[in-house]
Amino acid sequence: MSVGSPRLRPGTPDDAWVCGRICYEAFGTLAEHHRFPPDFPSPEHAAETLGRLLAHPRFYSVVAELDGRVVGSNFLDERSTIAGLGPITVDPGVQNAGVGRRLMLAALERASGKQCPGIRLLQAAYHNRSLSLYTTLGFNVREPVVTLQGPPIGEAVPGYTVRKAGEGDLEACNRVCAGVHGHDRSGELLDAIHEGGASVVEHGGRITGYTTGIAFFAHSVGETNEDLKALIAAAREFGAGAERRGLSLEPRPRAQGRPGDDADEPRALQRAGRSLPPLDPLLNLKAHLIDRTEGNPFLLEESARTLAVVRR
Ligand SMILES: CC(C)(COP(=O)(O)OP(=O)(O)OC[C@H]1O[C@@H](n2cnc3c(N)ncnc32)[C@H](O)[C@@H]1OP(=O)(O)O)[C@@H](O)C(=O)NCCC(=O)NCCS
Repeated sequence: MSVGSPRLRPGTPDDAWVCGRICYEAFGTLAEHHRFPPDFPSPEHAAETLGRLLAHPRFYSVVAELDGRVVGSNFLDERSTIAGLGPITVDPGVQNAGVGRRLMLAALERASGKQCPGIRLLQAAYHNRSLSLYTTLGFNVREPVVTLQGPPIGEAVPGYTVRKAGEGDLEACNRVCAGVHGHDRSGELLDAIHEGGASVVEHGGRITGYTTGIAFFAHSVGETNEDLKALIAAAREFGAGAERRGLSLEPRPRAQGRPGDDADEPRALQRAGRSLPPLDPLLNLKAHLIDRTEGNPFLLEESARTLAVVRR
């Protein structure tokens, strides 16, 4: 499809509703196509999320217009050393015509202007078109990520104390993050502390891990798996309360039709001559995890198979 060249401009809080509706429809159409639950339960929810990003001074936003009509947006989280990219969404009616690539290039240009040493993003594992786009822009697949949903566990790990984080904990938390990842995520953590959503775990009389929320748009770091287990076990909710957000955790029937006709199918990508990292082990992850989680209080949320992708 050819749609002409989009005009790009910075986003403003006034774009929240139109960009939110596109974000809801872009993710929803894709999820429905693959019979996964949607990432955003309603246009209002998506507009609220994007509205927060559009108003945040440390998020860069870019909006694409075609003939004066908004058709997509992209965001760059500039709160910490490594920039976080997304969500990027394009109106389903004009996808596969280069708008997404332009929005990506704008964000990458911004990141190089800011001399970001790296950029990270998460993408749905079932969306091979976005994977094509990201890999041709220099991103590498780093690791599979899985979201598990379910009621809070409400347990403690002996020897590990979890409590709410305060500003006085920032330095110790940043030290943990720098020790694990080589950089801190101070700006994101500070926001979570101010919003009251951050927790720390203490072991042996010192802070050994923290979380900004066990959810999308959040992160957790621990020196050991025990630290992370303690944070997860103490979480008051997962994924900001999937059920509260109206997301169904019931598996859906598979889509009908020939997989080879589906642009997001690996075979379609092969036909297009794409060179992709070996994905099979990642795509088998769900089965692997279902085996491992059998009998515990978690329910695997299918929609949540995501890939961590980073660009240096
Ligand atoms: C991801 C998204 C923003 C891309 O927007 P878009 O305008 O469709 O993107 P473009 O047209 O610029 O690029 C699409 C890519 O898919 C590729 N593609 C399309 N059909 C394909 C097919 N059948 N086989 C292989 N590749 C295909 C295109 O070639 C292009 O990659 P390239 O530029 O490297 O060649 C859009 O699909 C979207 O909104 N998706 C839903 C939300 C989402 O998943 N966001 C990303 C996760 S944060």
